[in-house]
Amino acid sequence: MTGMTMAETAKTAKLTFDDKEIELPILSPSAGPDVLDIRKLYAQGDVFTYDPGFTSTAACDSTITFIDGDLGELLHRGYPIDQLAEKSHFLEVAYLLLYGELPSAVQLEDFEHRVTQHTMLHEQMVYFYRGFRRDAHPMAIMTGVVGAMSAFYHDSTDITDPWQREVATIRLIAKMPTIAAWAYKFSIGQPFVYPRNDLDYASNFLRMCFSVPAEEYEVNPILSRAMDRIFTLHADHEQNASTSTVRLASSSGANPFACIAAGIACLWGPAHGGANQACLEMLREIGTVDRIPEYIARAKDKDDPFRLMGFGHRVYKNFDPRAKVMKQSADEVLELLGVENNPTLQVAKELERIAIEDPYFKEKKLYPNVDFYSGIILDAMGFPTSMFTPIFALARTVGWISQWKEMIADPQMKIGRPRQLYVGATMRDYVDVEDR
Ligand code: CMC
Repeated sequence: MTGMTMAETAKTAKLTFDDKEIELPILSPSAGPDVLDIRKLYAQGDVFTYDPGFTSTAACDSTITFIDGDLGELLHRGYPIDQLAEKSHFLEVAYLLLYGELPSAVQLEDFEHRVTQHTMLHEQMVYFYRGFRRDAHPMAIMTGVVGAMSAFYHDSTDITDPWQREVATIRLIAKMPTIAAWAYKFSIGQPFVYPRNDLDYASNFLRMCFSVPAEEYEVNPILSRAMDRIFTLHADHEQNASTSTVRLASSSGANPFACIAAGIACLWGPAHGGANQACLEMLREIGTVDRIPEYIARAKDKDDPFRLMGFGHRVYKNFDPRAKVMKQSADEVLELLGVENNPTLQVAKELERIAIEDPYFKEKKLYPNVDFYSGIILDAMGFPTSMFTPIFALARTVGWISQWKEMIADPQMKIGRPRQLYVGATMRDYVDVEDR
């Protein structure tokens, strides 16, 4: 266990089967439901538990993020996400996630300075980018480039050295905007734009994406604030699929760059981070509000694999608090850009209205998630849909590294090794090919 927050209570649960009776300790978290400690179950009962998709299984303990899915509550180190989105900013939230407390003014300045000093990529990496096809998806490029960081920054791959862990942390957070922006620039055949350390994190990213050498680029402070808010809303989300991937990969002792590359690969899927791209594509495909009922009917049809993208969540069964802030941000940005009558936004609003009143979605507790409105903002800012998931990956890197650091520092860290319910053939003798 990493912290002071989890205590074993005197409570136990009894499990009885065959002629065995096993007493299982019940752990009380600082928030959320009690947790049955089954670590000794196999040793004592010669039995495994079965939980594909980890719907009832805690794979670790953590002090970083807490979600109450019934209340629609998301806390980072105890602070509600809506307060952080309104009053804080991405690098301050990054500090909070990484080190556990909000920084003092001096600590924040020092942290921002350290991140800013690492924004450039090793120049040799330019050749690495050039090896990709022009039409490569930016997520494919990011997975490759972040994995390749272990070949460029050997001096921060020893996970047993706290100093190297810190350097890897700062490098990843600092370089991710450059990596993502360059993936975009490469795909549109424009020259790479080098980072500018006098700009804040979000403005620097926007400039690297949208500026060209032929013209100076003025970062609009409202767009940079909206970008920063998107980063903040995606910073961490406890033990989701990609974070669990990072933890599992790093449990073998793999270096941080390899582990974050594994997280990026996992995030890409449409059930996870890829949903923001899939959602905007769906909204465009629907096109006009009169076609919404057809898509709602398809989403409800058991024989149709179609799902309403940007709807539903494994943990949130009320609403996704990030979606609320995102919706408000979408309104602001679209108004600023003078595109509040954007047909995609109209379809999104009407789809949300119809779906949340529909008995199918009500009964299954399916509400808009963070990906429902983020794509509309990113689209209005000028990003192509293929960049939506890379932006999610950029922001989530902070959460992945915070969770990775927490895990590596935990003296109880063990290699992750799930068991299985084997349902295949039992032992049988090999048959020569001519006899089959
Ligand atoms: N549209 C229509 N039906 C849905 C949807 C949806 N978006 N989501 C879930 N359902 C139905 C599903 O068919 C199932 O019905 P039944 O019980 O009759 O079989 C029921 O709701 C429960 O679904 P599930 O797949 O068992 O739930 P899950 O917790 O395994 O999946 C989810 C959660 C997010 C993968 C799923 O809701 C989904 O595929 N949503 C669309 C993709 C999406 O927006 N993903 C982004 C998630 S938030 C950001 C992130 O994690 O990256």
